[in-house]
Amino acid sequence: MKAIRASVLRFDDEARAIWERDGLLVMGPVAGAPCWQVLDVGPYDAVHARWPGLDVDDQRGHWLVPGFVDMHVHYPQIDVIASPADGLLPWLERYTFVHEQRFADPAVAAEAARFFFDELARHGVTTALSFCTSHVASVDAFMAQAQTRGLRMIGGKVLQDQHSPEGLRDETEQSLLDSEALIQRWHGQGRLGYAITPRFVPTSSAAQLAGAGELAARHGDVWVQSHVAENRDEIAWVASLYPQARSYLAVYEQFGLLRPRAVYAHGIHLDADDWDLLRAHETAIATSPSSNLFLGSGFFDFAKTLGVRHGLASDVGGGMSFSPFATMRAAHVVARENQSKTGLTLSPERLWWLHTAGAAQALDLAGVVGNLQVGAEADAVLLNPQATPLLARRIAQAESWAEAMFAMVVLGDERAVVRTLVAPRLEAMA
Ligand code: GUN
Ligand code: ZN
Repeated sequence: MKAIRASVLRFDDEARAIWERDGLLVMGPVAGAPCWQVLDVGPYDAVHARWPGLDVDDQRGHWLVPGFVDMHVHYPQIDVIASPADGLLPWLERYTFVHEQRFADPAVAAEAARFFFDELARHGVTTALSFCTSHVASVDAFMAQAQTRGLRMIGGKVLQDQHSPEGLRDETEQSLLDSEALIQRWHGQGRLGYAITPRFVPTSSAAQLAGAGELAARHGDVWVQSHVAENRDEIAWVASLYPQARSYLAVYEQFGLLRPRAVYAHGIHLDADDWDLLRAHETAIATSPSSNLFLGSGFFDFAKTLGVRHGLASDVGGGMSFSPFATMRAAHVVARENQSKTGLTLSPERLWWLHTAGAAQALDLAGVVGNLQVGAEADAVLLNPQATPLLARRIAQAESWAEAMFAMVVLGDERAVVRTLVAPRLEAMA
């Protein structure tokens, strides 16, 4: 068992932040659980009285917050980040599709997976839903490395059997057999989950999308991930491939790919009927504002998300940073852009919720990760609000916790991450 004394952030079921200025979090093993869980949390005096004699790690002055949840990221794109292009499609062709071909080599995939998980730990991200590449080796490397580190991670082999270069393009039948085998090999092993991963409509044949839908129907507890309505040229391409479809999102519906545990990145250019479709199918949107700003894709409309499962994502390598602070910052900027139209701003606690408990809820992992309530898996991040002179100075002036949280969003980066705690082992990874 382990107990940490610090200022503790958690969320109630209504997405309200609960700040314990002088808090205590107690973690330990639970019979039958794959990892350590939160056993108790609350004000230091009250919690400590319930656990007499418990050895306490005194971290007063630091914040203990839920590990961040990245709803959409591409682990193979660590070397694609910061590649300039005129927009999504040229960026894919010129950089992404070229680079991802290297992942046919298991050694390349293994090295990238190690680097990726090191980066996540440096930034306080403890759960992610990640694309791998179209190569089976890329999934094995991702899963094996996540397993070694005891992380709750979800990933999947990209399906892309058309409009893709040799070396990245897969073969329809085999791609589905491979996906099935990968589900058997990795899904539900410890904290690992599998995601059926058609890249996006243009790069999968109708047969591949149909096969993905059949897999999704057979494995209801497996995730589905893809991209939708990110970029105007992409949308026009989909419309030319499916002229009879009502919308881009409707193509996924047609193939049985909208359901709970299906997560679509972006969704910038959806119409009202699309939003109804997402609600009806309990399908999630992963908002990736840093990527949308970088690729000039557009400004996500947060006002449309009422009743839709949704949260924040880095979308590295389209995204500019692994840092949850950078993503929350970008979300703030993007919401500001639409504010005159929608009247909506994202409060500091909303921003944090969307990247922790809210993102977990959108992944159908509410109460499992992304929060520090009793029974949650004990993935947490210890933050230093004095990590930089400016951060310390600004937070000292904060008149409320909300203001301090917002200062961390605007001024924070990985220097504020003192330690990333991963539930089974609870050792320093940062
Ligand atoms: N659409 C299809 N593939 C990708 C990708 O790798 N990144 C982003 N941002 N959009 C995509
Ligand atoms: Zn993406």
